[in-house]
Amino acid sequence: MSVNAPESNASGNNARDNGAPGNKAPGDESAGEKAPASGTGPLSGGLAGQRALVTGGAGGLGAACARALAAQGVHVIVADRDGAAAAAVAKEVGGEAWEVDLLDTAALESLKLEVDILINNAGIQTISPIQEFDPAAFRRIITLMLEAPFLLIRAALPHMYAQNHGRIINISSIHGLRASAFKSAYVSAKHGLEGLSKVTALEGGAHGVTSNCVNPGYVRTPLVEGQIADQARTHGIAPEQVLSDVMLARNAIKRLVEPAEVASLVTWLAADQAAMVTGASYTMDGGWTA
Ligand SMILES: NC(=O)c1ccc[n+]([C@@H]2O[C@H](COP(=O)([O-])OP(=O)(O)OC[C@H]3O[C@@H](n4cnc5c(N)ncnc54)[C@H](O)[C@@H]3O)[C@@H](O)[C@H]2O)c1
Repeated sequence: MSVNAPESNASGNNARDNGAPGNKAPGDESAGEKAPASGTGPLSGGLAGQRALVTGGAGGLGAACARALAAQGVHVIVADRDGAAAAAVAKEVGGEAWEVDLLDTAALESLKLEVDILINNAGIQTISPIQEFDPAAFRRIITLMLEAPFLLIRAALPHMYAQNHGRIINISSIHGLRASAFKSAYVSAKHGLEGLSKVTALEGGAHGVTSNCVNPGYVRTPLVEGQIADQARTHGIAPEQVLSDVMLARNAIKRLVEPAEVASLVTWLAADQAAMVTGASYTMDGGWTA
């Protein structure tokens, strides 16, 4: 694993072994070299041999990102609190698992990350009117979805700066750009993530590091399928009606986004072709925010 967590740097082996430019530790003599402009073919985007950390990579969107990046030859570290599921995805994509609870932010403060690509994806949701919102639940969402991304970016930048190349990709949401009632913590965290991403872009530009947000509408993941089933039960309506009348009411295209569609955008943002894209936020929402 390319994470050099204070308690373990055993995973650093891979970082040195496969010869990818992104695998040199800060301070290595050759660490100032930039990643090659292209990889193994015209469509590879220079991704082959690079190393990516995907948080929340054990399921949903994160697993889709892990698969898409691995298909381009990226070595993927699947970081998730669900160690068994992370190990399964890591095995499938030929990467490695990092079982980590990202709510334990104290442990992230001394972390050093040796990766070329950081995908801040892990997220949770709590729905409640503000006056009844559990303060602990609010703090949990802000910690996982804003503070942890900050600490991971902080841990990754020294290595990226040393090699003059890096990609920070933050999985935001349409809720990073628009609000919905009863989602105060989620909307606040995602709006905060948008700001963090832009500041990272401004600071990273001179060092070959880009930072962008991806803003999906409702994506077909276990999280959303559970919400559809819950709402169908609560309102006594068919799941299809929950989709058309509630979740997709503002969509121009009346279907859920597929995880692989989001992952394809993430892969493009990670590639050389997107070198001039930074500080941006890319919606993929079937027209929800139009
Ligand atoms: N599904 C959607 O419709 C949708 C839409 C827009 C944005 N997003 C965003 O995409 C991201 C992924 O969402 P998803 O739908 O794939 O969710 P998901 O619930 O399917 O997957 C989230 C993953 O994060 C992991 N995770 C949760 N808490 C963690 C913690 N404390 N430490 C480490 N890992 C933790 C979970 O174990 C899980 O594997 C989130 O940031 C979410 O806000 C999702």
